[in-house]
Amino acid sequence: MVFTPQFYRKAGWLTCFSIFLLVLAGGIVRATGSGMGCPDWPTCFGTYIPPTHENQLPENYQDIFLQKRLAKIDRYVKTLNAFGLTKQADKIANDQSIREAEKFSVVTTWIEAINRYLGALTGLFALTALLSAIQFIRKKPSIFIFTLLGVIAVVINAWMGSVVVATNLMQGPITIHYLAAFIAAGLFMWPATNHLSKEENVSSKVKTALLVLFGIIILQSITGTWSRETVDSIAKSNQLTDASNHLNLTAMGFMFVIHRYLSLVVIGMGFYLYRNTLVRAFQKWIRAFLIIAFAQVLAGSINILFVLPPFAQAFHIFAGGILLGISMYLAFKSIKRTEIAS
Ligand code: HEM
Repeated sequence: MVFTPQFYRKAGWLTCFSIFLLVLAGGIVRATGSGMGCPDWPTCFGTYIPPTHENQLPENYQDIFLQKRLAKIDRYVKTLNAFGLTKQADKIANDQSIREAEKFSVVTTWIEAINRYLGALTGLFALTALLSAIQFIRKKPSIFIFTLLGVIAVVINAWMGSVVVATNLMQGPITIHYLAAFIAAGLFMWPATNHLSKEENVSSKVKTALLVLFGIIILQSITGTWSRETVDSIAKSNQLTDASNHLNLTAMGFMFVIHRYLSLVVIGMGFYLYRNTLVRAFQKWIRAFLIIAFAQVLAGSINILFVLPPFAQAFHIFAGGILLGISMYLAFKSIKRTEIAS
């Protein structure tokens, strides 16, 4: 059963979905400030099922886990230096905020722990897909290669997750972590996607529009994560809000201007595709895309007006992921020529 094309496709899609769920979990971790809920990695307070009360921990636990984190930061700084990224290495080495001990909180610990269980499950799904992809090594080696690269991307991303924890959610690693998740999802999605049937073929105009939309959503994600980094840095320098207690748009800078206005292009293209794509397999996805894009603009506006309430912040990161996922799927499906069973 494991070595049937159907099983492979299911395992590929399951991995893809769980990566998207991980993005949601990551958004919740960030919005609730739970990134340091587990001070070590991959264990959480030294075990795989974390404590529910501080008195289950040794008295000097803050010191024990701080020492572990400091050792990890040193290793990461060395790795960055080895790759010639000396500026980033210096920034991390000199950041005092990541060298402070964290106090136990049951809520943040369990939010981060659940995030990790989901991560472990994703790894399991990815390995199952790889095992199943062995059947294609001779017939269609590209499927095996994509899946192998997908597994590697998941492993690198898990390592990035540990760096994000060690550096206490430092901006650079989080951005790479977020974007790398979608590269991993794409590597599983491409071989698992069926091509359109002959009757369903889309026009070359629509195909181009779908590819452009996918490109724009990638740009939205990059300018979005950039804006998120700006949010973090202006919060540190007490410039997060303006005189009327909204998000300080002047301090958010030019990338955020692009981020906001590009969303109008996204909505415009969504409408164009809705009117011009007659293929039934695509219509429901484009409708869902448009609804989520509107909700995304609303959540973005709430983030500005009410200065990033956790719900709107977590929704915005997740909906951004869904829009990227849908546009990736439609772009892949429209250009796909061959598929597993053919
Ligand atoms: C289709 C449209 C949009 C997409 C796909 C999108 C996507 C994203 C993504 C992926 C992030 C990074 C989130 C993170 O890493 O935490 C982000 C951040 C952000 N976006 Fe958007 N966005 C869109 C529209 C908008 C609009 C219209 C606004 C404002 C009116 C907006 C406001 C923000 C803000 C304030 C942040 C920083 C949030 C934070 O610090 O957590 N976005 N966006």
